[in-house]
Amino acid sequence: MWMLKAMKTIAFISNKGGTGKTTLSVNMAATAHNLEYKVMIGDLDAQRSSVDWARGRSADGLTVSPFKRGSLFPAQFAAERAGLDLLILDTPSASPEISLQAAKAADLSVLVSRPTVMDLRTMTDMVTTLKSLKLKSVILLNQAPSQRNGREPTLVKEAIDILVGFGLPVAPCCFRSRMAFQASISCGLSAAEQFPDSAAAKEIEGVWSYLAQQLAIESPRVSHSATVATSERSQSVWYRSRMQADPQALAG
Ligand SMILES: Nc1ncnc2c1ncn2[C@@H]1O[C@H](COP(=O)(O)OP(=O)(O)OP(=O)(O)O)[C@@H](O)[C@H]1O
Ligand SMILES: [Mg+2]
Repeated sequence: MWMLKAMKTIAFISNKGGTGKTTLSVNMAATAHNLEYKVMIGDLDAQRSSVDWARGRSADGLTVSPFKRGSLFPAQFAAERAGLDLLILDTPSASPEISLQAAKAADLSVLVSRPTVMDLRTMTDMVTTLKSLKLKSVILLNQAPSQRNGREPTLVKEAIDILVGFGLPVAPCCFRSRMAFQASISCGLSAAEQFPDSAAAKEIEGVWSYLAQQLAIESPRVSHSATVATSERSQSVWYRSRMQADPQALAG
């Protein structure tokens, strides 16, 4: 019998497309990696967005593997045998079968939603299934508009009310709608690696802390490697990128 280490698996899922499953997968993977966890993203989406993200990244030991349909459980077993600490599943939208398979494989499923009526309407079936199967799940808001003068926009407040009504825990943190998340993806970086002192970086830390707590992962507070790796990469990659934006502005 194999003596396996307790690898944790987290799945980002949503029925609706474009909610931010890949954005969360890569930002959480980079965070865990910079905290020196052995982490892999299993990309279950035929679009292979996480795999594409990793192509823009220098080889630093963070693995992103395309997981073929039907290969999830053997791939998960192999990852655990290889001594990984964390497996992150990036899943396709509108594929309830794959989402469910990922949720069953995961220690924690994260239902990702934007605060829009269209997103909220697509959640009911998935929430019902997760609840009926008693699969550990939380809901996380992405692309929430920023607070103004410390006040939450009505759109976000209303969305949270509806999400709470679904009866699953709603994360007390979120990703706001920020250019930093878009710019960093195109460079194979997390927003925190590219913009270490940004609001996006703080949100990543908040979401990581919450998810690590849900997964019962011990989460050290400070990452040393993130800062060093970032400054090297952001100069070579960022300046080559075609985005004409001011990094400081993006960081806000
Ligand atoms: N918090 C955010 N702020 C700004 N842009 C974001 C944010 N999160 C995601 N985006 C952008 O929204 C788009 C969709 O995000 P992403 O690809 O992560 O969603 P997805 O759920 O993986 O989509 P799909 O269902 O196609 O796999 C991307 O262009 C991404 O850069
Ligand atoms: Mg995706």
